[in-house]
Amino acid sequence: MAGRCAVAFALVGCVWSLAGCGGGKPVAAGPQGTYDQHCARCHAQAGQPGGPGIGNAKGPPLSDVPNRPGRSKEWVAAYIRDPKSVRPDAKMMPAFKDTLTEQQINELAEWLTTKK
Ligand code: HEC
Repeated sequence: MAGRCAVAFALVGCVWSLAGCGGGKPVAAGPQGTYDQHCARCHAQAGQPGGPGIGNAKGPPLSDVPNRPGRSKEWVAAYIRDPKSVRPDAKMMPAFKDTLTEQQINELAEWLTTKK
């Protein structure tokens, strides 16, 4: 099940970032790379409000997460694992607990909550 999800995500990612498949730009390492691969197609790039030309930007920009009340590293990590666990009315964002490792999730949460 988790495997099939991962494949689906990879395929979707390829369609969205045509350049990303088959010899495009190298994927960044660490949380930036995880973000580029799994989050940027919906969320504007952190640090780029509105995210010019990145995916369909269905999600809110995440650049001001550190300034929002209640957005601790733990909250963001829980949100990435399963959005509904911390916000029952979340509808569109998939749970990533089967797609990403705990380490990737924690790195992302730290990265998102410490960026200016
Ligand atoms: C399919 C599109 C989609 C993908 C992929 C996606 N998100 Fe989201 N995200 C959303 C949407 C839409 C919301 C707003 C709430 C909702 O409807 O789920 C959201 C909300 C959030 C929030 C809450 C922001 C806040 O302060 O309220 C965080 C944090 C977040 N996403 C992080 C991530 C991270 C990190 C990833 C990559 C691992 C990711 N998202 C991947 C669509 C997406």
